[in-house]
Amino acid sequence: MIALVAASFFMSIQFPTIFALGIEGLGPLRRAVEARYKAGCNSVSRQSLVSWKAYLGISSCTPLLSTSIFLVSLKKMVPLEFLLRPAALLLMLLQCSMSMMEESCVGVVPMKQRREMISITDFGAVGDGKTLNTWPFKKAMYRISHQRHKGGTLLYVPPGVWLTESFSLTSHMTLFLARGAVIKATQDTRNWSLVDPLPSYGRGRELPGRRYMSFVQGDGISDVIITGENGTIDGQGEVWWSMWRQRSLRFTRPNLIEFKNSRDILIFNVIFQNSPFWNIHPVYCRNVVIKHVTVLAPRDSPNTDGIDPDSSSNICIEDAFISTGDDLVAVKSGWDEYGIAYGRPSSGITIRRITGSSPFSGIAIGSETSGGIDNILVENVDLYNTGIGIHIKTSIGRGGHIRNVTVANVRMRRVRKGIRIAGDVGDHPDEYFNRRAIPTVDGVTIKNVRGVQVQQPGSMEGIIRSAPFTRICLSNVKFWGVGPRRAAWRCSSVRGAAVDVRPRPCSELADTSSSGSCSRTA
Ligand SMILES: *[C@@H]1O[C@H](CO)[C@@H](O)[C@H](O)[C@H]1NC(C)=O
Ligand SMILES: *[C@@H]1O[C@H](CO)[C@@H](O)[C@H](O)[C@H]1NC(C)=O
Ligand SMILES: *[C@@H]1O[C@H](CO)[C@@H](O)[C@H](O)[C@H]1NC(C)=O
Repeated sequence: MIALVAASFFMSIQFPTIFALGIEGLGPLRRAVEARYKAGCNSVSRQSLVSWKAYLGISSCTPLLSTSIFLVSLKKMVPLEFLLRPAALLLMLLQCSMSMMEESCVGVVPMKQRREMISITDFGAVGDGKTLNTWPFKKAMYRISHQRHKGGTLLYVPPGVWLTESFSLTSHMTLFLARGAVIKATQDTRNWSLVDPLPSYGRGRELPGRRYMSFVQGDGISDVIITGENGTIDGQGEVWWSMWRQRSLRFTRPNLIEFKNSRDILIFNVIFQNSPFWNIHPVYCRNVVIKHVTVLAPRDSPNTDGIDPDSSSNICIEDAFISTGDDLVAVKSGWDEYGIAYGRPSSGITIRRITGSSPFSGIAIGSETSGGIDNILVENVDLYNTGIGIHIKTSIGRGGHIRNVTVANVRMRRVRKGIRIAGDVGDHPDEYFNRRAIPTVDGVTIKNVRGVQVQQPGSMEGIIRSAPFTRICLSNVKFWGVGPRRAAWRCSSVRGAAVDVRPRPCSELADTSSSGSCSRTA
């Protein structure tokens, strides 16, 4: 590690161009900072710097990045703290090299320091929790998208409760929520905008026809960061949940935040709560990082999924705490004949270091899987008080495939069912789904799982005997039950292997303990 530190230190002082780059970048930044100081908003730059370091502090670093941090921090320190600078640099390099040893999403989407900073109060917003700030948010977005400031713009949301109707984000921006800032959705649902259904769903997910626009949405945009000091985006979903309970909804409820046809999205250090429907929904997106987020909704709130990557690729979700009324993370790719026709898979999705609790699934794949799902890696997940720990779910009519899924290092406590792979969830958009569209499930490895107080180990049930789910591998999966009544695994139309599984695996997964590996089974 010392070698690593020395190397990056050497690198960062070896390349004058890197220094020059950093210094050049500082001019406009300093001017912006000075302007903000004058405007009495001096916390902005310091806060974005803090969050920037927070992003990198737990991530890998390149010499360029560490140099830039050093240069920025150089600017932030008063000259008297001269001696502190080398110490700070060393500390950062040490941090960087240590974090290099931990797998991380960094690199999927680059972190950007914006050259321009504006505050929502510049547009007449009032953070009293009563004033409707729809216009300030719209004006701010208009301003960012029309001035197209080089290097992008940071929109600062100060502490306070900022009530607003739904609004759209724009490209090349950072939405920065200060500590104590809450962007709150209006509970007046009468004037909530409607948008078209997603083509891969053919209709609203819960009701036919159009759907309510997500509270915060981005359509066809890129280079967007949502961050801050763990400020909150609050959907105030109760009104929507009660409409659902009373069956008085006219259209599908809004998501809390949705990105559609967008790329290079980075969401970190934000709290999402009380979504009317799904919380975070990237759909038809690529290059999305979601990390250090907290997602909260009451356990009895309907359909408040945590994070649902949908027909999207290169998505990385890590270090999240999620406790909601539905699946914590669910990978999807469209619904029956509409999803098949649209043909947009979800692929290259990493989900790691997730902690949480759900009455339904911890980590789910499906059930909308019609565009195909492949290359999914789930690791280091900690679940408690949860319905089903790991849940792969699909149905006749979905078509498509689920392929190359690895789930590793999962801990469960107080779970109804450890693992479920099922092809019988039903749930169709309409009666026109194709009964011959049989989804395939092939190549699912689940390893290093420990569960205590697990009521049932699980079930693996394919759809038809002629086309079973194949290459399902369980390795080092151990569940301990509650009470004396120990339930067994249930299997049908499934092929694969089981090594080191407790309780005893079902015979469909031929024991390969002699070979010691699942990979050779077909
Ligand atoms: C809803 O919109 C209508 C017109 O579109 C307007 O007259 C009414 O005041 C709005 N209601 C609220 C609560 O904003
Ligand atoms: C925000 O929350 C995350 C996750 O809980 C935590 O790791 C991080 O340190 C917090 N950041 C700040 C600035 O409070
Ligand atoms: C399977 O998925 C992983 C990501 O989880 C990927 O690294 C690997 O290349 C994939 N394997 C194949 C054969 O596509």
